[in-house]
Amino acid sequence: MSNPSNGQIANVLNETRLFPPSETFAKQAVIGSLRSYEELYKESIEDIEGFWAKQAREHLHWFEPFHTTLEWKNPLAKWFIGGKTNVSYNCLDAHVLAGNGDRIAFHWEGEPGDRRTITYAEMLNDVCRFANALKQLGIEKGDRVSIYMPMVPELAVAMLACARIGAIHSVIFGGFSAEAISDRNNDAQAKLLITADGGWRRGKALSLKDTADEALAKSPTVEKCIVLKRIDNAPNMTPGRDVWWHDLVANASEDCPATSMDSEDSLFILYTSGSTGKPKGIRHTTAGYNLYAKRTFEWVFDHREGDVFWCTADCGWITGHSYIVYGPMSAGATQVMYEGAPNWPQEDRFWEIIERYRVTILYTAPTAIRTFIKWGDHHVDKHDLSSLRLLGSVGEGINPEAWMWYYEKIGGGRCPIVDTWWQTETGGIMMSPLPGAIACKPGSCTRPLPGIVPRVLGHSLADVEANHGGMLCIEKPWPGMLRGIWGDDERYQQQYWSLVPGMYLTGDNARRDDDGYYWIMGRIDDVINVSGHRLSTIEVESALVSHPAVAEAAAVGRPDDIKGQAITVFVTLKNHEPTDAMREMLKKHVRKEIGALAVPDDVRFTSSLPKTRSGKIMRRLLRDIAAGKEGTGDTSTLEDYTVLVRLRNDDES
Ligand code: WTA
Repeated sequence: MSNPSNGQIANVLNETRLFPPSETFAKQAVIGSLRSYEELYKESIEDIEGFWAKQAREHLHWFEPFHTTLEWKNPLAKWFIGGKTNVSYNCLDAHVLAGNGDRIAFHWEGEPGDRRTITYAEMLNDVCRFANALKQLGIEKGDRVSIYMPMVPELAVAMLACARIGAIHSVIFGGFSAEAISDRNNDAQAKLLITADGGWRRGKALSLKDTADEALAKSPTVEKCIVLKRIDNAPNMTPGRDVWWHDLVANASEDCPATSMDSEDSLFILYTSGSTGKPKGIRHTTAGYNLYAKRTFEWVFDHREGDVFWCTADCGWITGHSYIVYGPMSAGATQVMYEGAPNWPQEDRFWEIIERYRVTILYTAPTAIRTFIKWGDHHVDKHDLSSLRLLGSVGEGINPEAWMWYYEKIGGGRCPIVDTWWQTETGGIMMSPLPGAIACKPGSCTRPLPGIVPRVLGHSLADVEANHGGMLCIEKPWPGMLRGIWGDDERYQQQYWSLVPGMYLTGDNARRDDDGYYWIMGRIDDVINVSGHRLSTIEVESALVSHPAVAEAAAVGRPDDIKGQAITVFVTLKNHEPTDAMREMLKKHVRKEIGALAVPDDVRFTSSLPKTRSGKIMRRLLRDIAAGKEGTGDTSTLEDYTVLVRLRNDDES
């Protein structure tokens, strides 16, 4: 157990299973042995600038070469200075010019079952026409464009068209409310909003345009609104402001050369929630972000010809930016894009899609995996998933038992799982197994990618010993790093670069084990401090989820006069009754798995856990509930937080 006085966090998760890549997998992999990874890693950190300069020269198209690789005036980084490139050129023209225009970019499937197949050449054509349409509306380089759309191919077209002419996009997740949209429009001073009449979700046509109209009434900087017809519900169109997408592109020319962009010109802003509730606009730029998204995609997903990649994220999140649009498309990948819910019309929709398109790589989130477990194996058993060769996870820690289910049930025991740790701010994956080289341990994001130097620090800012938790920081700049918070330099400095001088503060806790593997222990403020022992929430949760009756669990601390904090856990059961006997059984189980220290003081059963729209458990809300600040009525039986979530969701993402 750790010494609590020096700010280290107790490590109580004892996961020892090891899953090395099979020989067949390793033989075909881009990076096929631990030695190759270690050599590449060593080379990358011995000469960070030389390493990235070579990557940039070889893997991006340059209209003009850069003269300086990096200028690092902490906390401001500039990469590939003097270089001129264009992200949409790298994602489209490069493939068409290389003779790969006929390659499929997207197999798209709408929720009602409509399907489209789009090649790279068609995508280029659509992007050029839409980019010309944007110009026609007066959009210029540097203008901010908000995008509020369902998961349709035109969402990627809109993003790439902005990139093509140098407009800065701000994608707003299609589930957000009018308030959230207008906040983002106003913060970014957006000139244009691109939306759709609606989209499909669980069989219902959602009317996006109504929400957009409500937001536009409070968005004085937005002059025009482009509306894509998706559900054909005859929305209200304001004359002079609103234009149909199809009318705009009808006569637009296909000829739109990509604008030569400076490496450090802004590519996009993406709003993410912060500790204060006011969303922050994370700013990413052109060349560094593009290179980082592309190379991390190729390394982590071991991408090769013939792969069919499916990332189930929405483009409203960073995962959709980096691993649907910019990474895979720069790499010329063939992808699946799906509009709707995983349980429409039935709970096997994902498995049906994998079977139909012979998906080889699936990238999804732990919250989805836990939901699939709850829905039951019989949905999976109906389908042939033998095309899969690699699985990925992102967004939260994956509990070891969920990892095992994913590995065995979905991957048939033959697919490595890349547990990818990264953030909106990092632009791309920072730590993950390279699937042909690094043996997986369930629940660990394993080791850093080339060029990334993680450090785990205690409160005294010294490195903690192996197997002790501390604050996860990144020592050296990397090309995909955020370049700031839109319009708030002070918050950028204060939030990421103040507590630990000279290093990027991730806001997560982590520990490194004896093999140099990293284990993310949750956000810094998720730590529970019981009698001076700091426990991480994920460890208590993983212990609970390892009980066969438990589907999901969230652990939080609540004030306790004696212990400082007591542990409250919120538990969702798989078809079991929420009884006192079950409560006692779970406490006993945690005692057995971790020890007396971690035994929950309160076990509360709930039909579902409150989640942010991107699927992360809302521990802040649960903390308030546990502390009795937010009443939910009778706690003796099942609780339901959906109402509270609806009230709260607007300032969370
Ligand atoms: C958490 C998502 C454990 C972490 C790409 C991080 C993870 C935050 C993992 C960023 C993982 C993401 N294991 N925790 N594999 N991936 N996280 O900005 O707390 O939506 O700081 O980016 O999610 O969330 P964001």
